[in-house]
Amino acid sequence: MPKITIAIDGFSSTGKSTVAKQLASNLGYVYVDSGAMYRAVTLYALNKGLIEEDDFNKEALIYQLEQIHLSFVFNEELGYAEIQLNRQNVEKEIRTLRVSSFVSQVAAVPEVRKKLVAIQKKLGEHKGVVMDGRDIGTVVFPNAELKLFMTASAEKRAERRYKELKERGDDITFEAVLKNVTERDHIDTTRKDSPLIKAKDAIEIDNSNLSLEEQYQKILQLAKMTIEGLE
Ligand code: DC
Repeated sequence: MPKITIAIDGFSSTGKSTVAKQLASNLGYVYVDSGAMYRAVTLYALNKGLIEEDDFNKEALIYQLEQIHLSFVFNEELGYAEIQLNRQNVEKEIRTLRVSSFVSQVAAVPEVRKKLVAIQKKLGEHKGVVMDGRDIGTVVFPNAELKLFMTASAEKRAERRYKELKERGDDITFEAVLKNVTERDHIDTTRKDSPLIKAKDAIEIDNSNLSLEEQYQKILQLAKMTIEGLE
C-alpha cells in the first residue's frame, strides 16, 4: 500500500491533534505535533528568562537557537511520540496557559520557523506521516497528498480548551481561555511569515457540530480514499 503525507492545519483547539493521533495509529503512520515544537521553544525562552510579561528578548532567543535540541520519543503506553526539550520530556509543561500566552509571539519569529520547518520536513521525508499545525499544507509539505483545514467557532474551541485545562487541575477562567484563543487566532493569521491560511487544495472541516467520532470517521474515509486512489 503506498504511504502518503497527511497535513492537518487549522485554528487552535479544533481537535487537530486528537484526530491526527487516531489517524496515525489506524494507518500505522508517525504522528508529529508541530505545535509542540513551537511550545517547547517558548518554554525554553520562559525558563531562560527571555520572556517576561511585556518583554520578549527575541535577539537572545535567536542567538541561543542552536542550544535548543528537540526530539520525539515514542511512548508505548500512549501509542504516540512525546516531545523532549534538551532530552527532558516537557509534554505537560508546554500545555499550560503560560506557554499558550506567549507561543504565538515565538512562532512569529522567522528564525524559529526556519529551524523547526527544517526538522519537520526531515521527519516527513519518508512519507507515512500525519503532521498537524498551521503551515503544514502550505509550507512544510506543499505536496502532501491529503490536506485538511479544521475550523470551529472561537467559543466552541475555548469551551473545549477550558474543559481540558480544568480537568488537569489548572486554576483558570473561561474568559481567560477565550481571550487566549482569539488573541492567538489574530497573531497566527496576521503574522508575516507563514500565516495560518487554508491551502488551495485543502479540504475544510468545520467541526463545531461534529462529535469526535463523526469527525474521525469522516477523515479516516478521506485518507483511505486518497490512498486507494494512488494504488
Ligand atoms: O497547535 P498548538 O495550539 O499547540 O500550537 C501552538 C502555537 O504554535 C500556535 O498558536 C501557533 C504556533 N504554530 C505555528 O505557528 N505553526 C505550526 N506549524 C504549529 C503551531
